[in-house]
Amino acid sequence: MARDLGELNREDFARYKDDVKKEGKSFFPRALFHDTVMSLVVVCVIVALAAIWYFDADGVKSGILGPWYTEPADPATTSFVPRPDWYFYFLFYLLRIFKWPETVFIATVGIPTIALILLIGLPFYDRRRERRPSRRPVAMVAAVLTVLSMAVLTWKGATAKEALGSELVAFVPEWAQEQGFADDPQAVKGAELFAQSGCLNCHTYLGQGAGNLGAPDLSSIGQTNEATYFVRYLTNPAAFGNTVMGSYAYLGQENLDALGAFLAASKGG
Ligand code: HEC
Repeated sequence: MARDLGELNREDFARYKDDVKKEGKSFFPRALFHDTVMSLVVVCVIVALAAIWYFDADGVKSGILGPWYTEPADPATTSFVPRPDWYFYFLFYLLRIFKWPETVFIATVGIPTIALILLIGLPFYDRRRERRPSRRPVAMVAAVLTVLSMAVLTWKGATAKEALGSELVAFVPEWAQEQGFADDPQAVKGAELFAQSGCLNCHTYLGQGAGNLGAPDLSSIGQTNEATYFVRYLTNPAAFGNTVMGSYAYLGQENLDALGAFLAASKGG
């Protein structure tokens, strides 16, 4: 508003002030018209940018606004760990502070909802006319704290190690203790690989993991077979009639041997 007025000359300005005083400026059609025009401009800019991006690039070949994609999608990937876009890092990090299942509700629904309600309610509970920041200590402190905590959470989210793997690795000593393979370095290494390789996206192990897609609990899998069998199994699960689990041959023989030793040592505690 202030900027619009700056461009009018004095006479216009006086008339405008007079008008506003006498009859106000109508929301319909004036304000609505302004907003509609501005929204249209924004939409047109977005469409134009999208068109330039699309027609100037071709697949991985970059145009001035970047390529369509950096590498072709691989629908068969099993090791991909999805991460949010940067502007969701603060929410993403909240999920690490609040743990599934007890308090996750606070992070996913509680805090964002409370923040939104406070924001929507702002014009209703903050009705003082005072606008100088120095006279509004509560609002200023709240604003600074909000920005600061979002910045810190965004930073933590951006630099956080991959959730599943790094958190699960913390359980390895516990597993080693319970299963009694603490003094077998190969099995311990296998346990770390097991925690980091996404196995627990499907399997469960001593209370950790997801239990997805019909994958069995592996806590006492060592009772059924030898390490060499597990190595063969992991190299080519399809050969054992398992078409859900991808091959882990890419880990290399040494790592597979470690995983095999770990599985064989997992006799149920
Ligand atoms: C995409 C889900 C998925 C992932 C990821 C996965 N598995 Fe499996 N796994 C399965 C399913 C499902 C079965 C059961 C197949 C069947 O019963 O035929 C299975 C079976 C197994 C078996 C055989 C169990 C038995 O009873 O003989 C072993 C051992 C095993 N997985 C180990 C692993 C290891 C180690 C990893 C990680 C390196 C892993 N799995 C990752 C889904 C998965």
